[in-house]
Amino acid sequence: MKYKSVIVTRKGSPEVLKVIENDLRAPLPGEARIKIHATSVGRTDIGYRKGELSFAPKIPFVPGYEMMGTVDAVGEGVTNVAVGDRVAALIGHGGYSEYIYLGKEHLVHVPTTLDSAEAVTLILNYVSAYQMLHRTAKVKAGDKVLIIGASGGVGTALLQLGKLAGLVMYGTASRSKHNILTELGALPIDYHTQDLVDVIHRAEPNGLDFVFDGVGGEYGKIGLEVLGKGGELVEYTPAPSGPGAIALLGWLILVNLLMLPNRKSIKGYGISALYRGNKRPFMDDLPVLFNLLGEGKIKPIIAKKFPILEAAQANELLESGQVTGNVVLLAPALL
Ligand SMILES: NC(=O)c1ccc[n+]([C@@H]2O[C@H](COP(=O)([O-])OP(=O)(O)OC[C@H]3O[C@@H](n4cnc5c(N)ncnc54)[C@H](OP(=O)(O)O)[C@@H]3O)[C@@H](O)[C@H]2O)c1
Repeated sequence: MKYKSVIVTRKGSPEVLKVIENDLRAPLPGEARIKIHATSVGRTDIGYRKGELSFAPKIPFVPGYEMMGTVDAVGEGVTNVAVGDRVAALIGHGGYSEYIYLGKEHLVHVPTTLDSAEAVTLILNYVSAYQMLHRTAKVKAGDKVLIIGASGGVGTALLQLGKLAGLVMYGTASRSKHNILTELGALPIDYHTQDLVDVIHRAEPNGLDFVFDGVGGEYGKIGLEVLGKGGELVEYTPAPSGPGAIALLGWLILVNLLMLPNRKSIKGYGISALYRGNKRPFMDDLPVLFNLLGEGKIKPIIAKKFPILEAAQANELLESGQVTGNVVLLAPALL
């Protein structure tokens, strides 16, 4: 039997994504074969495809940073999941596919009551947002925060979880997306037409407690400028490929030293680096988010759903900048 995947054939725009056929094989010992129900299209997929980020998989590869699906077969020694179980995993790449083989240690059970399109957004975007808020920044109610890139997949997750945590929130986004930011409890700032530093300085003369930056470039500097004494910049843009990564690391060290007198600091957040070091926090946090979704306390914004094999069109849409929230790829039966 055969199954299909979407691979990156070379660096470039979405046309480099091609559908290929693979042979379906039995899972190896310790492995489960999963029929994929859902994966997402995120900004990191785009960076990997264009070859702009460090740690991009080697071409050819199947993009898709997370997946959820049903266990279809298990290899010898797999006892934590059984055929028919609904599972999720953080995979880095491999989600744009009808099937995937994963080691049993990566699998998290997904409650059967959750909607696949909503649940899949929790694996990368909401876990990242939750960990930045509660493990990296350790926010408390009343903290004043700025979210740079607030209309995106991670940004809207930060807003929903930030609202639950009782934060006072400011967010940057294009004007056409401001209604969502307002709905989610943030004061929107249009980065195209407004001076971010000026707006924040007027609204919060003592500065902010935290800035979460998912855009990078100049925003690191701006983020530091709007922080108050003791404030913290959480930088979560992935390291660029090549010398840019070393420059970024040097910048982080230098700025942390320079900022010592006013006690501002920068912390980097990377979900994959954390996961590679220790799976426990991810394994603990994803079920917390499944519960919040089940209780209706969070509600992922799904801009559009595509069939998995139409990943190229979905990438094109995200890259167009017209998306608010998440773009999800689903098995055709779920559309
Ligand atoms: N560190 C981690 O573990 C981790 C995990 C997940 C994602 N990420 C990274 O997080 C970032 C966001 O990912 P995502 O999937 O949420 O992206 P996304 O859904 O495409 O959202 C991108 C956001 O960036 C904003 N933006 C784009 N260009 C901008 C500019 N020039 N100035 C200011 N804002 C701009 C967009 O604003 P408008 O559309 O409103 O203009 C939008 O809010 C990416 O860098 C991704 O690689 C990191």
